[in-house]
Amino acid sequence: MVFLPLQVLVQSAVIAVALFSHFAVAFPQHASLAGLSERDFHFAMTKLKAVVPASPPGPLRFDGSKLVFDKKHPWEAPRRGDLRGACPGLNTLASHGYLPRNGVATPSQIITAVQEAFNMENKLARFTTYFAMILDGNLVTDLISIGGKTPLTGVDPPLPAIVGGMTNHGTFEGDASVTRADSFFGDNHSFNQTLFDQFKDFSEEYGNGFYNMTVAGELRFHRIQQSIAQNPQFNLAGLRHLTAYAEVTFPANFFVDGRKQGSEIGQLDMKTAESFFKDMRFPKGFHRAAKPFEVDGIDVVFSAHPVLPGKNNGEEVDTFTVDESLGSLLDRCKLYTEYVNTTVRSLYPNPTGVLRRNLELNLQFLFDALSDFECTQVFL
Ligand code: HEM
Repeated sequence: MVFLPLQVLVQSAVIAVALFSHFAVAFPQHASLAGLSERDFHFAMTKLKAVVPASPPGPLRFDGSKLVFDKKHPWEAPRRGDLRGACPGLNTLASHGYLPRNGVATPSQIITAVQEAFNMENKLARFTTYFAMILDGNLVTDLISIGGKTPLTGVDPPLPAIVGGMTNHGTFEGDASVTRADSFFGDNHSFNQTLFDQFKDFSEEYGNGFYNMTVAGELRFHRIQQSIAQNPQFNLAGLRHLTAYAEVTFPANFFVDGRKQGSEIGQLDMKTAESFFKDMRFPKGFHRAAKPFEVDGIDVVFSAHPVLPGKNNGEEVDTFTVDESLGSLLDRCKLYTEYVNTTVRSLYPNPTGVLRRNLELNLQFLFDALSDFECTQVFL
C-alpha cells in the first residue's frame, strides 16, 4: 500500500507549513503525528498534552435492546467547527452526545458509545477502533477525530483546513463506500445523494424496498465494479478488503430497531436509512439491537460475489490486479501482521519516548481484541 504514507505525509506537510510559518497556530490535539519529520514532531510535542491511554472498556453488563434516543441524548445539529466524517454510525453518536459533539474522542469513548447506543459486540468495537486510532489518531494525546475538516484558527493569512482523522484517505477510510464517493473524485466523507439513490434502487430491486444482506452482497459488488471502471487509483487491498465487506453488513445489523421481531430483523427501511446516513440522527424512539452484533452476515455478502483484494494501477481504470500481499478478509492474520510490519512501521519508522510507549500500548490493545483470530503477536 505504497500510497498510504504519502497521504499522511501530505497531511503532515500541511501541518508543518502551518507550524513553522505561523507560530500562532495551535497543533490540533487530535491530529495524527504520522509521517512528521523529527523537527516537526518535536515542535508538535511542545503543543500536546501527553497522556497514558486507558485500557479499553469491557462488554456491556445488560446487552439487550433498550431505548437509546432518550432524553439524555437529544439530537443537535453539528455546530461550526464540529467534525463529522464518513462513518454514519459515529456521526450519529456525536450528534446525540454519545460521543463528544465536536467529533473528537478517545478510543475508550468510542468503544463505550458504539456498545451503549448500537450494541456493537465488544471485540469488534475494540479492534475497529484501534485499527483506526493507530492510523489516524494522535497517539500522544489519545484523541482521534471522526473525520471532516479541521480549521486552523488564528492564522493570518488563513490556511486551508486540514482534512484528517478518520477522513484521511488510504488509512482506514477507503474506496467503494456505498454512500460516500472515492477520494479520487474529491470529497470522500460527505453524504452523496447520487450514491444514496443507488442504495435505495438496489434495496428496491433486491430487497423489496428494504436493505438486507442480499442487497448488501449486490451493492458491495456493484460499487467495486464502479470504482474499478471509474477510479484509476481504486484500492481494495489489505485492511480495506476487510472493512469494505464489513461495513455493508452494519446498516442491516445496527440501524434496524431492536424491537423488530421475526422476519423484520435485519430489514432496514429507507426512511430509517436516510435518517442515519444523511441526517446523522436516530429515528424517533430508536431502540438499539437486541443482542451484540459482530459482522454477522459478512459471509453471505462476500460469497454473493467474491472479489479478492487488489487495485487498479494508479494511472488507468479497468486495470484491477489481485494483490494479496497485505492480507485480506480471507487471511486476517496476514492482514494484522502486515498492518503492523508494513503500514504502521512506514507511518512511524522510528518512534521514541511517549509516542513509542503509547504506540506499543495501542498495538497491544489491538492484538488483544483480535484474540479470536489466533495470530502471532508482532512487536515493534
Ligand atoms: C467502532 C468504531 C468505528 C469506527 C472506528 C468506524 C470508522 C469508520 C470509517 C473510517 C468509515 C469510512 C470507511 C469508508 O471509506 O467507507 C466507516 C464507514 C461506515 N461505518 Fe463506521 N466506524 C465504527 C463504528 C460503526 C458503527 C457502530 C456503525 C453502525 C452503527 C458504523 C457504520 C458504518 C457504515 C454503514 C459505514 C459505510 C458508509 C458507506 O459505505 O457509505 N460504523 N466507519
